[in-house]
Amino acid sequence: MSLIRVHDKYFEPYLSEAEIQERIRQIAARIDEDYAGKKPLFIAILNGSFMFSADLFKYLTIEAEICFIKLASYKGTKSTGQVVTAIGLDIDITGRDVIILEDIIDTGKTISQFLPQLTNQQPRSLKIAILLHKPEATVFPVQIDYCCFSIPNKFVVGYGLDYDGLGRNIKELYRLKEN
Ligand code: IMP
Ligand code: MG
Repeated sequence: MSLIRVHDKYFEPYLSEAEIQERIRQIAARIDEDYAGKKPLFIAILNGSFMFSADLFKYLTIEAEICFIKLASYKGTKSTGQVVTAIGLDIDITGRDVIILEDIIDTGKTISQFLPQLTNQQPRSLKIAILLHKPEATVFPVQIDYCCFSIPNKFVVGYGLDYDGLGRNIKELYRLKEN
């Protein structure tokens, strides 16, 4: 793997496809154990989490459901701080064991604004599973129950994450190259 260019920026290899898949398998195994016999409902937050959600969901062996919502707060490489619901929840989560799937918690704003909408509906339990966490960037802390990788505060692309719409189809994760 070497440098790649997305729009005007260069990115360097960060996490390989094998590392990502191995870690997601481990997290799926933990969820399998924790939710045996519970039929949890996964809520995947689009767009960024589509690849992570699909892979995690495939590795699960328990009975489970999945649905999708769309929130967005990013433009370019900076969070705008404005979170909009572009596609809402179309399923009743009252009494359900819910697991939110998100690609990355950066400032934490997206997820912390969305959580009350879910707790209002009184799920039986509510947990969060994420691919990436940037602890140094987080200003709205939430409890993260399953985290694949804790990473430094650098912009990353690939594996579902984009830079201005591009880069989502890359199988590995790349990070912004400082020059
Ligand atoms: P937060 O609201 O600041 O936690 O940002 C969450 C959203 O911002 C994620 O769901 C991503 O879509 C996007 N995001 C945050 N950091 C990155 C990054 O390094 N690369 C690509 N997208 C990111
Ligand atoms: Mg996202």
